[in-house]
This record gives sequence, structure tokens and C-alpha cells, in this order.
Amino acid sequence: MANHSQQLPGAVQAFWQGKALFLTGASSGLGRAVVEALAPLGVHFGLVSRREALLAELSDRLADTGSRFWYRAVDVRDRDALYRAVADFHRQAGRLDVVWANSGVGAKTSWRSWDWDAVETCLDVNLKGAIYTIRAGLEVMRPQGQGTVVATGSAASMRGLPGSGIYCTTKIGLHYFVESLAAEMPEIRFCILHPGFVDTPINQDMPNRPWLMTPQKAARLMLTAVARGRFIYIYPFQMRLLYRLVRALPSRLYLWGSHRTVSRASREKPEKQNQLS
Ligand SMILES: NC(=O)c1ccc[n+]([C@@H]2O[C@H](COP(=O)([O-])OP(=O)(O)OC[C@H]3O[C@@H](n4cnc5c(N)ncnc54)[C@H](OP(=O)(O)O)[C@@H]3O)[C@@H](O)[C@H]2O)c1
Repeated sequence: MANHSQQLPGAVQAFWQGKALFLTGASSGLGRAVVEALAPLGVHFGLVSRREALLAELSDRLADTGSRFWYRAVDVRDRDALYRAVADFHRQAGRLDVVWANSGVGAKTSWRSWDWDAVETCLDVNLKGAIYTIRAGLEVMRPQGQGTVVATGSAASMRGLPGSGIYCTTKIGLHYFVESLAAEMPEIRFCILHPGFVDTPINQDMPNRPWLMTPQKAARLMLTAVARGRFIYIYPFQMRLLYRLVRALPSRLYLWGSHRTVSRASREKPEKQNQLS
């Protein structure tokens, strides 16, 4: 396996060196790439997701990197289990430097294809699960008087996107939650990350994924942004420009443009509407 941490700038490596990091959604995609990138830096990992076998495989594969691995199968919708996991990891590591709420699911929730199970799951995992994770981390960090909170949002938080209302709601809701905490707690460092399209299982059924990047590249960008103390980080840069442009549009113009796009897409491909994850 390539040593991904070597591609991180020296100051970024110095920030992450030896950190105690509690990360949800570590079994796949972005979370797994973050672990692989940080493993050579002597990190003490607390890894959580539902698929324990994948966490075990990752930890075993990286065992000789010098990092330490603690992992547990936890569904982030289970608040008590999540609180126990953070407390147990903290007891073992002796401190908690970074808590990263990264678990997430996609949900196609257009008016035409509404599925209450998908709606509830998306709200519970992406929003409530992230709030539980961050709150559990802050229970430790507040008494410490320091720490870093990271949340994986999405570029889908740019506006209410057609067909993705629930997913967009979870990600902009998470953004505002983190922002309100940051406004309240200057002693804690906060970072909200808004990825564009990264090649992970969450979006591999989508027909169009503009500016697609690898999880390894995404991990490097995110780890650099956190180390540099960025509060909001939207990537890649093309998505950052689009995000700002779309947010700046007057509502009437935005709604007109998105309605035209949806109408054209449903005429061309009735079953294949794109969705930004
Ligand atoms: N890939 C992209 O293009 C993209 C773009 C914008 C934002 N994001 C966000 O990035 C984050 C990571 O997604 P990804 O791209 O890495 O997708 P992924 O490969 O599908 O990973 C999703 C992760 O979330 C975990 N998860 C899902 N439900 C969970 C639950 N109930 N409890 C605990 N963990 C759960 C999964 O682990 P288990 O299944 O083992 O539980 C998995 O580790 C998500 O928040 C996603 O919304 C991704």
C-alpha cells in the first residue's frame, strides 16, 4: 500500500502526529481513506461503524504502521452506544484530540420516488447520528478545554437540490449545528467539510459525477483543511465556485434554472436523475 501520509505537507503531518482521533464511518470510502493516510503518523484511532469485520480488516492491515487501533461496531443512530464508545475510547487513549462525524447515507427523495424508510434513515444517520457523535465528543473536550470537531457535510448543502431534499436538509442542518457550536465555544476548533463527488460506494450508481476524485485525494484535502484550521472547506475548487455561485443566485432564478434542468432530465432519462451525495 502506498504511504499516503508522505503526500501531506510537513505542517499538516505535524498537526496530526500522535493525535487521538474518534472517527465514525471508518469502514468505507472517505473514512477508510482518512485512516490510511494518517496511519503512518502514530495516531491513536477510535474507529466506529456498523460493519465490524471491515474495521478489523483495516486495523489489522495497518497494525505495523505504529498507530494504535481501537474499534467497535456501533450504529450512530444508537445514542447510548455512541456515548459509551466515545467514553471507552477516551479512557483507553487517555485523551481525545479530534472527533470526526463522518458516517452518512444517501437518499433519493423526489416527490415521485418517496420512501419513508430512506427518509428516516437519512435524517437519523446523517443529522441525528452526527449530532450524537459531536455532542459525545464535546462532553470530553469541554473539560479538557481544547479539541477539534470535524463534520463531513456535502456540497449538496449548497441549496435545496431537486430530488435530494432530505439529504440536503441533513447536510445544511449539520452545517448550522456546527456553526452554532463554533459561535458558542471559541476554545474548540471546528471544521465543516463539504465534499463534491468522491468515488465511494455512496454514489457509485449515479450516472453523472462531475469533477470526480479519488478518496485518497479527498482525504489529503480534508486532512490539510482541518490542520490549517479551516472552518468551512468545500472541495474540489470547481465545486467551491459552483457552490458560491448557486448560493448567490436570487431564489427566483435558482428555482427557474433547477426546474428547467429537472424537466429536461426527466424527458431524456425518466429513471435516471442525478443526485449530489
Ligand atoms: N462520496 C461522496 O461523493 C460524498 C460527497 C459528499 C459528502 N459525502 C459524505 O461523506 C461521508 C462518508 O461517505 P462515503 O462517501 O465515504 O460513503 P461510503 O463509502 O458509503 O461510507 C459511508 C460510511 O458511513 C457508515 N455508516 C452508514 N450508516 C451508518 C450507521 N447507521 N451507523 C454507523 N455508521 C454508518 C458506513 O459504515 P457501515 O455501513 O459499516 O455502518 C460507512 O463507513 C458521508 O457523510 C457522506 O454523506 C460523500
